[in-house]
Amino acid sequence: MTTLKGKTALVTGASRGIGRATAVALARAGAHILAHYGRSAQEAESLVTEIRANGGLADALSADLATTQGAAMLAEQVRLIVGDRLDVAVLNAGISKAARIADYTLEDFDNLFATNVRGPFFLVQQLLPMLGEGSNITVISSLGARTVVGKPGVDSPSILAYASTKGAIETLVKNWAAILGPLGIRVNAVAPGVIDTDMSNFTKTEAGREAALGMQALKRLGKPEDVADVVAFLASDGARWITGASIPVDGGSKL
Ligand SMILES: NC(=O)c1ccc[n+]([C@@H]2O[C@H](COP(=O)([O-])OP(=O)(O)OC[C@H]3O[C@@H](n4cnc5c(N)ncnc54)[C@H](OP(=O)(O)O)[C@@H]3O)[C@@H](O)[C@H]2O)c1
Repeated sequence: MTTLKGKTALVTGASRGIGRATAVALARAGAHILAHYGRSAQEAESLVTEIRANGGLADALSADLATTQGAAMLAEQVRLIVGDRLDVAVLNAGISKAARIADYTLEDFDNLFATNVRGPFFLVQQLLPMLGEGSNITVISSLGARTVVGKPGVDSPSILAYASTKGAIETLVKNWAAILGPLGIRVNAVAPGVIDTDMSNFTKTEAGREAALGMQALKRLGKPEDVADVVAFLASDGARWITGASIPVDGGSKL
């Protein structure tokens, strides 16, 4: 499949997990990949090497998207490579945190919102001059945006602050879609359930694995590639009439 041949695609947080798999899927579809990373330089470079070895085009770009200047710094690096045309942006970089309500700190809360909401908000602002008719943005949300995940209780760790960042991003997706639609720019979210990555380290325990499988209709752990294939579809012309949507990619979680 070469549905994205000749297109440029930025993937944030492409060094690991869902972002890496998405970069590989978009490269397989023919896109020139701008693989963003935060700290994992070696992993990002090995991704770029892998894509190039398979005949694709890729560059690695670095910026800490939790900082106030991160989004602008990344957009400038993107501009230096693509000029005035970016076709696909996948806003994937994110962090998570589980804690009891009593244990959350202001710093935890601010880090979560800076990385998962403020970063994407200003990245879209800064990328806008490079987006145009036919461009599209896909944001990685979460099952947690629409449902309570885990065991609710004051003595149990919960991801409520993380989940609220994903609620905020889904609201932004609808607003971006409405505002940018008249320019021919589509904006969608995908909302993964539990996906086996560094972030979901609880799936490495038997209890965590059972909890994940217990809420899913399909009885295996989700893989980064399960999400990446849906993002690649949303980025393609096959999804030309989809905007403002959030697509669950969760093996039928909490039906
Ligand atoms: N795994 C799940 O079960 C799951 C479920 C639903 C939604 N999601 C969402 O899917 C996305 C990817 O998650 P994942 O599971 O693939 O996570 P992951 O394996 O922990 O990877 C996170 C990625 O985000 C980047 N990142 C984090 N903070 C950053 C910062 N301040 N600046 C720049 N880059 C930063 C990391 O880059 P470096 O390592 O280079 O710093 C890394 O590439 C996230 O938005 C997450 O909320 C995940």
